[in-house]
Amino acid sequence: MSVKFEISFTKSARLNGGLAILLKSTDSELPAGAESADPANVFAKAAPVSGFKSKLLTALDIIAPEAASVDRIIVIGAGKAKDLTAHDWLKLGGAAAAKIRNTEKVTIFLDAPNVDVGAKEAADFALGMLLRAYSFDTYKTKKGDDDEKGASRKAVKVAIVTQEAAATKKLYATSEAVAGGVILARDLVNEPPNVLGPVEFAAKAKELEKLGVEIEILTEREMRRLGMGALLGVAQGSARPPRLVVMQWKGGKTKDKPVAFIGKGVVFDTGGISIKPAAGMEEMKGDMGGAAAVTGLMHTLAAREAKVNAIGVIGLVENMPDGNAQRPGDIVTSMSGQTIEIINTDAEGRLVLCDALWYTNDRFKPQFMINLATLTGAILVALGNLQAGLFCNDDKLAGELTTAGLTTDERLWRMPLGKDYDKMIDSKFADMKNTGGRHAGSITAAQFLKRFVGETPWAPLDIAGTAMGSGQDEINQSWGSGFGVRLLDELVRTNYES
Ligand code: BES
Ligand code: MN
Ligand code: ZN
Repeated sequence: MSVKFEISFTKSARLNGGLAILLKSTDSELPAGAESADPANVFAKAAPVSGFKSKLLTALDIIAPEAASVDRIIVIGAGKAKDLTAHDWLKLGGAAAAKIRNTEKVTIFLDAPNVDVGAKEAADFALGMLLRAYSFDTYKTKKGDDDEKGASRKAVKVAIVTQEAAATKKLYATSEAVAGGVILARDLVNEPPNVLGPVEFAAKAKELEKLGVEIEILTEREMRRLGMGALLGVAQGSARPPRLVVMQWKGGKTKDKPVAFIGKGVVFDTGGISIKPAAGMEEMKGDMGGAAAVTGLMHTLAAREAKVNAIGVIGLVENMPDGNAQRPGDIVTSMSGQTIEIINTDAEGRLVLCDALWYTNDRFKPQFMINLATLTGAILVALGNLQAGLFCNDDKLAGELTTAGLTTDERLWRMPLGKDYDKMIDSKFADMKNTGGRHAGSITAAQFLKRFVGETPWAPLDIAGTAMGSGQDEINQSWGSGFGVRLLDELVRTNYES
């Protein structure tokens, strides 16, 4: 985790050098803080000549004249202030963070005239800054001076000036908890697969004990005893043994049924005997993006002491071709007792998840189960990398998820389930087969999982397009995006806390 900003909140600031960042909406004359940061009103001259119109997320960068109280002034456009959404505030923070380079001291004036900045907005702005500051450069031995990597390693002191300073400071603890979870998820996805195997991933999850999360790590023997033949079939081709990690955060009342999150943690997916083509295979180090999101989410819930009982279960395996690897044609028996004919060893995520889902439902009887997985390439064909696929057997849960997706801009698009799709995975030799052919590939994957969740409200999220390589934006410059952490934290916060 790259901590770069030391953020504090204050009602007023005395300026003495450094960088001042100001916000300006299209419907105000001057940016907030202009009187103190820019007494000579350089801005008034610079704006028209540079064509700065205060459009949302545009910026005007001014080197301040000798007499000014700061060295540099950056004005960030806030657009039509009354239209700003929660997510816009994150992006504004991200845009501001992107401008901060080789500066030791930054003062940010948030209270622009005509802009309604409450504590929530200011805390969201700060969260955007923390998310933007992340970069994964663990394995770069030379720190380049390109883009944001060249920024000084010393923490930059940032004072955010707002009337709501005291209230914002309290909410900022939540921003830090959310950023911590997202950044943990990004780190896990970005780590190379030689470094992060199932055992190493489990050790990372165990670190959540520091936050009060209870952790159990099931070994291969224990999973064998439970009868998890589907998960173990995937793992058997790898020299590295599998793990199942159970995380419990008990922040709710004892009698409250838990909510449960289940993640696909394929630390590397070669496809197995049904091996993938070489081009782009390195990206399959991110095939544990679901497990990373679940781990990040558990971090966030614990760090902000969410009033909820939450379970996180992640199935950690490596899918390798080997003399001992599982073959197409094999029939395995899942923990549920249902048998599965393996058609394609590359459809391994559902095999890991079916045992993890059955185990979670059987042991914890949760109010709902949400599983996250980089499950199918077909979801990329359907939705691109802009939204994740949402399937659901419960309209209320689907609605809550969709709303949380819009609020956080981690968007979900609902896909269908149905009996006729279910038929596509009936097998000649076993209870079901692990693929249903090329057509409706994401749907048949979800349909497969549905056979392991009983009547429990359940939603599988296919994040193959959004967990990694989904492009950079104001709040994320990293390959691993951490998708799902903010979404599910929002879901819990607005619907499931006592
Ligand atoms: N991990 C892949 C899905 C994936 C593809 C994730 C692209 C991220 C980016 C998954 O295990 C897989 O290989 N799925 C197959 C299923 C098929 C064999 C039925 C796929 O999508 O091609
Ligand atoms: Mn696969
Ligand atoms: Zn996979």
